[in-house]
Formats: sequence, C-alpha cells, structure tokens
Amino acid sequence: MWGGRFADGPSAVMREINASIPFDKRLWRQDIAGSKAHVAMLAAQGIVAAADAGAIAKGLDAIAAEYEADGVAEDLALEDIHMHVEHRLAELIGPAAGRLHTARSRNDQVATDFRLWVRDAIDAVDAGLAAFQRALLDRAAEHADTVMPGFTHLQVAQPVTLGHHLMAYHAMADRDRSRFADARARLNRCPLGAAALAGTSFPIDRAATAAALGFDGPTANSLDSVSDRDFALDYLTAAAQCALHLSRLAEEFILWASQPFGFVALPDAYSTGSSIMPQKRNPDAAELVRGHAGRIVGAMTSLMITMKGLPLAYSKDMQDDKPPLFEAHDLLALSIAAMTGMVESAAFVPDRMRAALTAGHATATDLADWLVRVAGIPFREAHHITGGVVKAADEAGLPLWDMPLDAFQAIDPRIDASVFDVLSIEASVKSRTSFGGTAPDQVRARIAEAKAALEDK
Ligand code: ARG
Repeated sequence: MWGGRFADGPSAVMREINASIPFDKRLWRQDIAGSKAHVAMLAAQGIVAAADAGAIAKGLDAIAAEYEADGVAEDLALEDIHMHVEHRLAELIGPAAGRLHTARSRNDQVATDFRLWVRDAIDAVDAGLAAFQRALLDRAAEHADTVMPGFTHLQVAQPVTLGHHLMAYHAMADRDRSRFADARARLNRCPLGAAALAGTSFPIDRAATAAALGFDGPTANSLDSVSDRDFALDYLTAAAQCALHLSRLAEEFILWASQPFGFVALPDAYSTGSSIMPQKRNPDAAELVRGHAGRIVGAMTSLMITMKGLPLAYSKDMQDDKPPLFEAHDLLALSIAAMTGMVESAAFVPDRMRAALTAGHATATDLADWLVRVAGIPFREAHHITGGVVKAADEAGLPLWDMPLDAFQAIDPRIDASVFDVLSIEASVKSRTSFGGTAPDQVRARIAEAKAALEDK
C-alpha cells in the first residue's frame, strides 16, 4: 500500500512490531461503517463517480458479511484493519477499490474508528451499570429494615441498615454513569476528513460524514483530530474510577463472607472450592473483581504514559492506544456483570449482622445524644459518661441496652428509665431521619426516587 519509494520489503521483525491487526481487528465494524460514510460523501461531492462508489459500498457490505461469518484472517504484511479491508476490497472489486482512500489517511481513519468503538463501549458499560443499579435497588428495598453495623476504622460505629449500605453503591454507580456520559458527549465529534494532519484539498463535506456516523459534528482542528486520544483517556479514567467502586464492594463481600463476619453467604454460582480443603467456599469472583481494578488502573496509566511526550501530530506510538483500552473494557464489563450477579443472589444473614451490633455497643452515641437532649448535659461530658457506661457493660459482659437502670445511675444519677427508649438498635436506626440518613423511611424514599430516575433514562 505504501511500497512505491522502497527497494526492499520489511524484515520479519519489522513486520511483527509494526502490525496491529492482532488487536485492531476488533475495529472492523467501525472501519467499514466509516468507509461507507466516506465513500457516500465522496460520491455526493462528485469526487468519485457514482458507479465506483456503488461498487465500493457493495464490496464493503460483502466484506462485513465475510467478517461476521468467519472473523478477520490476520496477515501481518497488511499491518492493520484498515489495510485488510482495503486489500480485500481490491480483491473483490478490482482497481476501483483504490478510489476509497481519496481525501483520507489512516490517521483520521483510525481516529474515527476508535472513537466509534469507544462510543459503543460507553453505551455497553452504561447498560451494564443500569442493570447493576437495578439489582442494588431490589436488594436495598428488600433490606430497608435489616439492621447491620456501620463501621468506621472497621470498628462497629453506629447501626445502619443493609438497604442504606447497598444504596451507597448505587450512588457511586450514578456518578460513574455520569462520568461515562460526560466522556461520550466530549467524544462525539468526528475527526474524519482531517486526513493525514493538515486537512485535504478535495472539496469534502465533513458535516455529512459526521452526521452519517452519528457524531454531533466534525472536529475543529485537523492536527488535534489525528493526535487527540483524550477521548480514550476519558473512557479509561471513568473506567478506573468505576472499577475502584466495584472493587470496594467486592472487598466488602469478601470480608462479609469470611467466617468471623458471616454477614453473607455468596452463591455457589460465584464461588469456587479448594482442591485440598473440602470445606472451602472461596469468593473468587469478588477477588478477581478486586484484582481487575488494578489492571484497569494500569491500562489508564499505560495510555497516559504513551501520550505524555508525543509531539503533534500522529506518531506510531499511538497505535498502542488500543490494547490497554480493549483490555480495560473487557475487564470492566466482566466485573460489572459479576458484581451484578453477586448482588442479585447474595444470601445476607441478618442474625449475624445483629449479633455484631450487640457486641459492639453500637448505640453508645444514642446514649450520649440522650444525655444532651433530655438531661441537658454538654456533649463532651455526655461522651465521657457514656464511655463509663460502655466500660461497665463490657465488664458485666452485657450489651448496653441489657444493663440494669441502677448500673446507669451509679455512673450518673441524672439517667432515668426513659433512656431505654433510645438504646435499642431499631430506635437508633429509626431516629436517623435527616435527609440521606439511615432511617428506613429515608432509605425507602431514596430508593423510590432512584427507581423513578432509572426508568426515566
Ligand atoms: N494502525 C495504525 C494505528 O492504529 C493506523 C494509523 C497508521 N498511520 C500511519 N501513518 N502509519 O495507529
């Protein structure tokens, strides 16, 4: 395709290092769509004769059918997907195939193909995250009244509900979806027609190709068009952030599934056994989601470092944009699906959650708040008195709310029997009625809003 000024062909090593077909064949649909839009525009502008354009379009359809049926046969000598398609087109329709590349370069071609691919990837992730959110909403509604410890420093802090805890991940997924939507909006400009770097002297219609490919319009600067990969980095930074969220949920499931916690039994469908310890049920899927997050962050870093020193416009380093993005997308799609499945089918164990609350004196803050509200004691003093009660409860081996009244009064005589109204776990959770708090009615209201928003989109 470019051998005119060369006397010798490339060495075997050159062929191998130069070829991107082993990975960029994933762009074949986008490449053919881009070529069809381009040739239709060339014909409409009178740059290519209608008969040739018709033959090219038909040939491209035939290639799409072949690839659909048999995949893309790799030939390292043909470098990349763009040359594979063009070469096959020449085999099918003869010399007219050579007119397709008029007013175009592989530089604007690959930038267009890759944008189209990333746009589809964003749409797929968004659909996956919507399903993940649906699963969280269903389980949160089911467990709006199920109490569990809320932790800080992984120490029992205050009672919350499992529904509230699951809705925290729903909120994270909302922001992830908005980051992907942002990336999509910025990405949606078409670089086709920037040609190699400077634009073209042919009377092309960039608005037409942009519209045909579903872009909002053409990109404004030809140099930027062929050298910008921040659309890919926008995807990767959103993917990395999303993977971190999934990884934190995975980590909690791993922790909760371990015997000392016992808050959840992960379903067989997402667990594996041990070849030596017959009793084991390991949370491998969750562990791999946690592990994959590292690789996704690595993919983001990889492309950032590829891009950081490149002068304008195109350099071949940029061919290395695709493997990290493809890898990150595959891992992220799998991670979303795995976490969705685990959320849908996890068997939560409310009794164990309640037992952990009891051992942790989780309503101590409620006692301190009661001392402030009912007995008019300054919070710092109330905190100190409560600390004494907790110490006494520990010594007696009782949860706070099972201590006899005289034990409270021995520490502070201002305490009366009405204190027991606030010491129960249910009372504590019910009292957290501030907007976004853990009170079951609050959580149910947030779930209802989130459901409505999800169906709205
Ligand atoms: N395979 C190349 C890539 O992925 C296509 C662009 C090649 N352009 C060039 N001038 N060699 O980046």
